[in-house]
Amino acid sequence: MRARRATAADWPEVAALRTRVFVEEQGVPADVERDEHDATAVHALVRDERGRVVATGRLLVRDGRAVVGRMAVDTAVRGRGYGAAVLAELHRQAVLLGLTEVELHAQVPARGFYERAGYTAVGDVYEEAGIAHVTMRRPLADEV
Ligand SMILES: CC(C)(COP(=O)(O)OP(=O)(O)OC[C@H]1O[C@@H](n2cnc3c(N)ncnc32)[C@H](O)[C@@H]1OP(=O)(O)O)[C@@H](O)C(=O)NCCC(=O)NCCS
Repeated sequence: MRARRATAADWPEVAALRTRVFVEEQGVPADVERDEHDATAVHALVRDERGRVVATGRLLVRDGRAVVGRMAVDTAVRGRGYGAAVLAELHRQAVLLGLTEVELHAQVPARGFYERAGYTAVGDVYEEAGIAHVTMRRPLADEV
């Protein structure tokens, strides 16, 4: 399957998926989950065969560096490659913006997912929104 860049018309469904995963499943406060970066981020999504948004993630540019975040896959369809497809599309979008490295704050249980996608952990584990995280980085090359 292939992820694509989300449009403004997709946003309500993207936001609803994020609420299900981060707020309802993980207990992140709604006003922390949604932030001002959503307005300027590049959002990616995958729709399933019935047209439902089942995976999403976003790309920000901060201090000239690509930052991936808010990776969320519908709980019913995890482990089927949707998350990897979203990440690949965000990498592609970052390369299109001329960026050469991507960083993210991985929830510790998801660390293996990002390692599979070429990321390496840097530094210690810390807490963010009540969840243990570790910073991870990956070079970007010819992803387009
Ligand atoms: C983390 C998450 C986005 C992964 O998405 P997914 O669609 O389930 O993952 P994929 O099926 O694309 O997995 C790609 C690869 O990573 C591996 N993988 C997936 N989750 C993993 C995990 N938690 N630990 C180790 N490896 C993992 C898969 O086995 C697969 O490996 P393969 O290429 O050898 O087959 C998803 O589980 C999720 O939404 N979790 C809840 C929200 C969350 O924690 N988000 C991350 C915040 S940092």
